[in-house]
Amino acid sequence: MPNEIYPPSAEFAARAHIGSMDQYRSLYQRSLNQPAEFWGEMAERELAWFEKWTTVFDWQPPQVRWFMGGKLNASYNCIDRHLETWRRNKVALIWEGEPGDSRMISYQELHRLVCRFANVLKSRGLKAGDRAIIYMPMVPELPVALLACARLGIIHSVVFGGFSAEALKTRIQDLEAQVVITADGGYRRGREIKLKPAVDEALTECESVQNVIVLKRTGSETSMREGRDHWWDHLGREEGEVCPAEPMDSEAPLFVLYTSGTTGKPKGIVHSTGGYLLETTLTMKWVFDLRDEDIYWCTADVGWVTGHSYLVYGPLSAGATCLMYEGAPDFPQPDRFWRLIDKYRVNIFYTSPTAIRSFLKQGDQWPAGHDLSSLRLLGSVGEPINPAAWDWYYRVIGGERCPIVDTWWQTETGAIMIAPMPGATSLKPGSGTLPLPGVEADLVDLQGKPLGANQEGYLVLRHPWPSMFRTLWNDPQRYEDNYFKKVPGAYMTGDAARRDEDGYYWILGRVDDVMNVSGHRLSTMEVESALVRHPAVAEAAVVGKPHEITGQSVACFVTLKKGDYDEQQLGGELKQWVAKEIGAFARPEQIRFTEALPKTRSGKIMRRLLREIVTSNSVSGDVTTLEDLSVLARLSSHQDED
Ligand code: WT7
Repeated sequence: MPNEIYPPSAEFAARAHIGSMDQYRSLYQRSLNQPAEFWGEMAERELAWFEKWTTVFDWQPPQVRWFMGGKLNASYNCIDRHLETWRRNKVALIWEGEPGDSRMISYQELHRLVCRFANVLKSRGLKAGDRAIIYMPMVPELPVALLACARLGIIHSVVFGGFSAEALKTRIQDLEAQVVITADGGYRRGREIKLKPAVDEALTECESVQNVIVLKRTGSETSMREGRDHWWDHLGREEGEVCPAEPMDSEAPLFVLYTSGTTGKPKGIVHSTGGYLLETTLTMKWVFDLRDEDIYWCTADVGWVTGHSYLVYGPLSAGATCLMYEGAPDFPQPDRFWRLIDKYRVNIFYTSPTAIRSFLKQGDQWPAGHDLSSLRLLGSVGEPINPAAWDWYYRVIGGERCPIVDTWWQTETGAIMIAPMPGATSLKPGSGTLPLPGVEADLVDLQGKPLGANQEGYLVLRHPWPSMFRTLWNDPQRYEDNYFKKVPGAYMTGDAARRDEDGYYWILGRVDDVMNVSGHRLSTMEVESALVRHPAVAEAAVVGKPHEITGQSVACFVTLKKGDYDEQQLGGELKQWVAKEIGAFARPEQIRFTEALPKTRSGKIMRRLLREIVTSNSVSGDVTTLEDLSVLARLSSHQDED
């Protein structure tokens, strides 16, 4: 398998949107040589506009604007425009709850649900430019909430249900949100995960919030604050099912999504309307080769960017039938995903390497009992996919018949940037292959000098693309400093990569202090700041440790304030503390106590050394800048906690 090349089958190519390398190359060349003509044509063809733009794009690095003067609405594009076609009665969402309850929602029905809820928001006094925080389980009302906000021009920010009250609070405060949309709870591994108590806790310090709208999902006991909290259904009963979509400026912010950076404070990635919608829609055809008769399933939670772009906006704008599943992949048994594919005859399946590795580990008996022959395309996102996982995915799930699209992109890029076009591109396992049209990827060294074939360097994107983020909420300076200072005029991705002799990209991972745990971005500094908020902790250093299933896990080095501690007990307490401060997915796997941390003479923590220690339990790199070598010796002789 290693080094093997998988060309598209003639059968797949014959039916694909992009069916040959010539077609890919001519699109790609045109997109770089005549970007304004290319993107103008795409925008005209793929989206419905209330008013046409006057200028396709304006690039004043680092500021970019797309389709200036154009007016459109994302909710209109995802719903209303399909109502004028045969798709009006097509199923937009097939939803299955973890307990096994299910719903089928047609585009017409989705329209009614979204209009009704948009009217609820309107009646609470919300209007274009206001901010809504959405903190919900994976139920149909979650996309409904996004689309209702988009309909009125309310900027939404979804906070993943796994985040804690503390994380929720900082996001509400940063956005000065007027409303929080939530639920009593949701289901995970057979248990109820409550959400409303976290909202109540967060709101003790958020003056901006006047309304909390609560969906009843589980029906468990929920406290409601008079005047502030309202049940979704109760408010909705009063409202009508007609609500015109607000014509929004192409550049109006559609949503803000917080993601980890290299400091303790998450960054509010701001996406605009026209450009974002165009590229998410187009990549549904280019990369997923979406056809009208397909059942498409993206397993990501809407709390992450993958769920925004490839469970809500991209597929609905493209008129797809999407499967959405509420719960855990292994509930009640490790075959739930395969059962769902079999039951709903899924054709396109998009998931993460972490999920694939955990399935591989559980064994072939779980997929074996199910008919997976409906699948025709597989996708992967979030981290590099290792050869063993690729091979298993290809053989056992895809029956050696389905191309795998390994899609590289980021919260900041909005849409997929590097990925195969499955009817054209030959696959090499582990490589995202080639950049999509409009994506001028390049590799540079520390001085910004372009590199040749097979050299490793920093991945940059040179030309702006429509779905690129526009700024960081409340922090335009950080936007510029973080992404555009290192290589003038180019966007710095933060990833290292290599490009082979065929121009294929191989992503090597982050070059900054950002970890990737289960395909979720987590900053070392964020975990460190959480740790030092604990009364016993003096200093903390956090690094990513290679992990068989999740790619990386969180490893912490901690020095304690003076006192008598039971290290065993405190270790457990600190893990719990981080889960409470950030969210359960950030829970450290390892806490090591140490008398001092290795630092340079200028006092910077040497994370590189700590990374080496957790990876190999020894250090081989250059340590001459270390302030105290004995610190290092003590650290590396320590045994693992767990
Ligand atoms: C980082 C972005 C965008 C969806 C989910 C993550 C890594 C993402 C791949 C891939 C290798 C990948 C990169 C990137 N990454 N996809 N196909 N191959 N690495 O979004 O949280 O913004 O993280 O995920 O390191 O920079 P995100």
